[in-house]
Amino acid sequence: MRAVCLHRRGGPEAIVVGDVPAPEPGPDEVLIDVRAAGVTPTELTWLPTWTTPEGAERKLPVVPGHELSGVVRSVGSAVTDLAPGDAVFGMNDWYRDGAQAEHCLAHAHEVAAKPRSIDHVLAAITPISALTAWQGLVERARVEPGERVLVHGGAGAVGSFALQLARLLGARVLTTVSGRNVALMRELGAELTIDRHTTRFEDVARDVDVVFDTVGGDTLERSWRVLRPGGRLVTVAAAGERTDDPRVAAAFFIVRPDRAQLARIAASIDAGEVRPLAGERFPLAEARRAYETRPAHGKHVLVIDA
Ligand SMILES: NC(=O)c1ccc[n+]([C@@H]2O[C@H](COP(=O)([O-])OP(=O)(O)OC[C@H]3O[C@@H](n4cnc5c(N)ncnc54)[C@H](OP(=O)(O)O)[C@@H]3O)[C@@H](O)[C@H]2O)c1
Repeated sequence: MRAVCLHRRGGPEAIVVGDVPAPEPGPDEVLIDVRAAGVTPTELTWLPTWTTPEGAERKLPVVPGHELSGVVRSVGSAVTDLAPGDAVFGMNDWYRDGAQAEHCLAHAHEVAAKPRSIDHVLAAITPISALTAWQGLVERARVEPGERVLVHGGAGAVGSFALQLARLLGARVLTTVSGRNVALMRELGAELTIDRHTTRFEDVARDVDVVFDTVGGDTLERSWRVLRPGGRLVTVAAAGERTDDPRVAAAFFIVRPDRAQLARIAASIDAGEVRPLAGERFPLAEARRAYETRPAHGKHVLVIDA
């Protein structure tokens, strides 16, 4: 099958498109005909892209891109709740081959029925970002209606879902973005949008109940002081994985697949309550360019021809 491949550890320059053997599903797995797969450029710097859970080097080539939308092609003998022909979206295990290929494997619990109101392209850019936002807001920060939530990077892939889901939970949302995205943030429900190039957020955001950080670095460092006493901070920015600061380590988490949460997110999309923000579409053959160019907002997606 055609697949995006990395035959050596590296960045976008190491990406090629080639042929690899099609995978076979194990007993609790499904084989999916991928229609589209999201592009998460920072994934090329994450350890699970290159190592096993035990820390050994992973077998090469690696197929990247762990979120997808597609159609179930076949199911393992123990899978009873999915069948060939089902349209699904989801994210698969970081430590296995990803979805930027004609077919990919996922455990049955890693996928859910695709939202009906959007196409595979928009569904494919939803799972990682929406699950990260949901798990940060609901499981970690336990956001309550009426609370003030500051989302850093509200026009980004994760940030745009965090903003919309925080609104859906009844929070009042403040967000930081670049100037070109200010109007879009209002459209998505932000009460206050701060242009990070012209205003320091700590000058206008105070006594915040929850900071949801997708940026890290100096932005994260300056965020502690805008929290009210007892306020909570969560960060997903990649650098949190390797921090020495115990406060940051406690605020950092890594998203995990969750079928029930995916179903909840799909229902909100179909109800028109939240929507994925698309960057550009690229054919599989142009995967390297998709990793090299930054979207103005949202996330790029690779489209796999059926
Ligand atoms: N821990 C996890 O489980 C997990 C899961 C998914 C992603 N991540 C990580 O989360 C981070 C964000 O991922 P993403 O996919 O949402 O990336 P993204 O789409 O590139 O979003 C990042 C956003 O940050 C904004 N930004 C950059 N510098 C900023 C600053 N100084 N202040 C405010 N905003 C700034 C950019 O917006 P403007 O252009 O508008 O400034 C951009 O939209 C990455 O580090 C990624 O690796 C972690």
